[in-house]
Amino acid sequence: MDILKKVEQYREEEQRLKWEGTFGEYLEMVKENPWIAQSAHARVYNMIKSAGTEKVNGKKKYNFFSESLFGLEDSLERLVEEYFHPAAKRLDVRKRILLLMGPVSGGKSTLVTMLKRGLEQYSLTDEGAVYAIKGCPMHEDPLHLIPHHLRDDFFNEYGIRIEGNLSPLNTMRVEQDYDGRIEDVIVERIFFSEDKRTGIGTFSPSDPKSQDIADLTGSIDFSTIAEYGSESDPRAYRFDGELNKANRGMMEFQEMLKCDEKFLWHLLSLTQEGNFKAGRFALISADELIVAHTNETEYRSFIANKKNEALHSRIIVMPVPYNLKATEEEKIYEKMISESDVSDIHIAPHTLKVASMFTILTRLKEPKKGDIDLVKKMRLYDGQSVEGYNEADVEELKAEHADEGMSGIDPRYVINRISSTIIRKEMSTINALDVLRSLKEGLAQHASITNEDRERYLNYISLARKEYDNIAKKEVQKAFVYSYEESAKTLMDNYLDNVEAYCNKNKLRDPLTGEEMSPDEKLMRSIEEQIGISENAKKAFREEILIRISAYARKGKRFDYNSHERLREAIQKKLFADLKDVVKITTSSKTPDEQQLKKINEVVARLIDEHGYNSTSANDLLRYVGSLLNR
Ligand SMILES: Nc1ncnc2c1ncn2[C@@H]1O[C@H](COP(=O)(O)OP(=O)(O)OP(=O)(O)O)[C@@H](O)[C@H]1O
Ligand SMILES: [Mg+2]
Repeated sequence: MDILKKVEQYREEEQRLKWEGTFGEYLEMVKENPWIAQSAHARVYNMIKSAGTEKVNGKKKYNFFSESLFGLEDSLERLVEEYFHPAAKRLDVRKRILLLMGPVSGGKSTLVTMLKRGLEQYSLTDEGAVYAIKGCPMHEDPLHLIPHHLRDDFFNEYGIRIEGNLSPLNTMRVEQDYDGRIEDVIVERIFFSEDKRTGIGTFSPSDPKSQDIADLTGSIDFSTIAEYGSESDPRAYRFDGELNKANRGMMEFQEMLKCDEKFLWHLLSLTQEGNFKAGRFALISADELIVAHTNETEYRSFIANKKNEALHSRIIVMPVPYNLKATEEEKIYEKMISESDVSDIHIAPHTLKVASMFTILTRLKEPKKGDIDLVKKMRLYDGQSVEGYNEADVEELKAEHADEGMSGIDPRYVINRISSTIIRKEMSTINALDVLRSLKEGLAQHASITNEDRERYLNYISLARKEYDNIAKKEVQKAFVYSYEESAKTLMDNYLDNVEAYCNKNKLRDPLTGEEMSPDEKLMRSIEEQIGISENAKKAFREEILIRISAYARKGKRFDYNSHERLREAIQKKLFADLKDVVKITTSSKTPDEQQLKKINEVVARLIDEHGYNSTSANDLLRYVGSLLNR
């Protein structure tokens, strides 16, 4: 559809949603739909909830965040359950500032932006509708009009608790414009919009010396003092600070702890108890979510300062560590690349996977327990199965280090390295080796990495490289087999027939000649040897497989090529071992003969058609694997 058409539609929709009426009419509406009077925190919570949740591996996943935030399920669940949920129930936490604390480029701003954009959209829906006193610069909650002495009665009738005082400006307006008749006060539906400064505000610290609290709480409009006679006349005050404008919705406080200490102190004492002070007026009630973010270093030094002690209790700190799942990290890169200038480059398969393995390794802490190494830990965190470990071990590993994910390489660094390599070398194709090389070069220039970490990181680059070597070899070998899955299955069936005959002391029947024959010991051994099963252990191994097959049969499941991890590995290795020489000779021959050339072209075509390569990356891959096999 034409974009202008969409703009027009949007305008029409807004027009359609508009509502204006008296406070009396508003109350009737509240009686029918009490949720329209919900608090800012409840609205945020309901917005998140309304997008639904999913259970993934027994963990709760909030759909609201899942489009743009990856791998942060644990932190998000905690944020929703420990902050938004109780805050929505009007518990005390909502009166405190929510401080997201996490490493650089860990997704804090992304999270806050999602909440802001989400609220803008949600205020256009029936469930998220917001109403305010018309003409109020702070879009004050109409229910504030109900005088304090009647609020208990109101609660009995409507079931809604009213908090907060009518602001000085509206108190005056009710007297002057409405003759004290609150039922006539005009109420309107409002729509959150950061651009129009309605219900959504952002504050970022400027120069600490010139930082003015008025940016938050508004200021006196000196040009109108003459007209109104006094500085304490609310009409002579501009309620246009970020805290004013964000009323009913949310305010983002960027880099909060970078603010001057005095300023911060002022702010925190202002925001306590859901009120803030502006000008010479009594406290002004604010109903808004205040989200700030900071990094760990700033937070630690803030905490360490005794003078700040009183402020701790006014902040709720929620850690937002880096994602620790390699697969999710890959998604982050895909997203960032698709948003960048280099989105049209060809990225060879496995490139981002290998980069994310390196990144995750830099974020993980050395396991304390047993013999598990960092690469295995990375796999377990990613939800892969590692022989000898289960779910409980993963939880145990996670519990070993409370601060895991607070340091390491950030996603922006990886993307910057990828894009600078592409641009500098004018490449149109990039593969895992290019990226690893570039990440390695970048480490030397990275200012904030200590020498010790650099050593460690270089080691992780080699680990990621080893992982890549295995992936690359498998990829090529698979492409050499005409139909890999088919061949693996045939070999497996053949093996199982022989094992069955061996264990039951039966004969097999040759499918061609119909002759009886003994189980093919040579074939069975050639497979078993691939995974180091000795002559003495072969009987037990074969019997175990038969038991597994009958267990499957009892449950009505089919035992197939993927049912037994070690057997699958053995089959794969056997297939590749048979191929190894062909692959080796074909890929590394400097002057391939006609037949080799034909095979190479076939393999390249298969890599392109079935595995997502282009001709450059496919040929690079073949050359690389050739050199690996000749080492
Ligand atoms: N877990 C994640 N899921 C999705 N994207 C992420 C994640 N972590 C980081 N990113 C991406 O990395 C980039 C930087 O993230 P963002 O700006 O949100 O981080 P930040 O925590 O605010 O960092 P800073 O401390 O530097 O302000 C963004 O493009 C963001 O989309
Ligand atoms: Mg940020």
